[in-house]
Amino acid sequence: MKLQFLLVVALVALLVADVSAAEKVRKHKKGRKHRLSTTTTEQPAEAVVAAQAEQDVMTILAEDEKEEEKEASEQKAEEDVKMNEIVPHDPCQEKYCGAGKVCQVSASGEPECVCIPSCPIEVDPRRKVCSNHNETWGSDCEIYQMRCMCDHGSEMCKGEKYKHVHIEYYGVCREMRECSEEDMSDFPRRMRDWLFNVMRDLADRDELSPYFLKLEREAETNLTRRWTNAAIWKWCDLDGHPADRSVSRHELFPIRAPLMALEHCIAPFLNKCDADDDHLITLKEWGKCLELDEEDIEEKCDEVRGEEE
Ligand SMILES: *[C@@H]1O[C@H](CO)[C@@H](O)[C@H](O)[C@H]1NC(C)=O
Ligand SMILES: *[C@@H]1O[C@H](CO)[C@@H](O)[C@H](O)[C@H]1NC(C)=O
Repeated sequence: MKLQFLLVVALVALLVADVSAAEKVRKHKKGRKHRLSTTTTEQPAEAVVAAQAEQDVMTILAEDEKEEEKEASEQKAEEDVKMNEIVPHDPCQEKYCGAGKVCQVSASGEPECVCIPSCPIEVDPRRKVCSNHNETWGSDCEIYQMRCMCDHGSEMCKGEKYKHVHIEYYGVCREMRECSEEDMSDFPRRMRDWLFNVMRDLADRDELSPYFLKLEREAETNLTRRWTNAAIWKWCDLDGHPADRSVSRHELFPIRAPLMALEHCIAPFLNKCDADDDHLITLKEWGKCLELDEEDIEEKCDEVRGEEE
């Protein structure tokens, strides 16, 4: 590297010297054009040598430049060939396989989803998950892998019940502390606060759609809109699978599973939200269990979807 640098410096110095020499020679020539034939041969010879040296440097540089360009284009061509080889010919490129599965090209060249042969080894105990059978698993991947194996009738399936194994919550299985009446009475306020803080955090990180950002801005400036806007945002956010204006139990997963290990009241709280016990939480029920004024809660999800599309 150092040698190369020195070479470049030397080359540049040579070049500059040559150019100025050539310049001098040219001026010299101009001035004495009419009597060029009568002067001694000394100066023109020097000029010829200098011009020749300059020419040589230029040739070298041009050759190097050409070489570099050639190499670059060859490399690019090679990459293009690689791209053409891999991308369009990999049938798995476009295939989406769900959790616990990976795409594999079958003998007939078709992409197919198979159970993931092995899950990444997790050393972080926080990646452990507790299943609906109150069993601790190494990671969410392991749960989905088992479910896949049972689905596919693999002999690796540990039993019929694992056909429906799923994550109950993140973290190791533990004894859930009873949610006391006192804890529960404070929970809606804490939940509202938490929802607003999550919404604000997402706004700061530029992860809210323009419509929700507007709701967040309003929540920032108008205290009476603070909790209701956050509640509306979260309810609309949860109601996406499917978007049917009610939040079913599986749609509660994104707030239930991560909070269970931290909040012993989350499960009883969410159960309480479903006041009529039909396994669906309407926006009205949601607002009520967050102890918000019913009048302030209005359904705004449709507007949101319209803007997002
Ligand atoms: C679940 O497992 C944990 C840890 O093994 C245990 O302490 C707890 O009592 C279990 N919970 C239930 C509901 O069985
Ligand atoms: C704050 O929100 C309430 C309820 O929507 C509304 O009646 C009030 O006009 C708003 N206040 C301001 C300052 O925008």
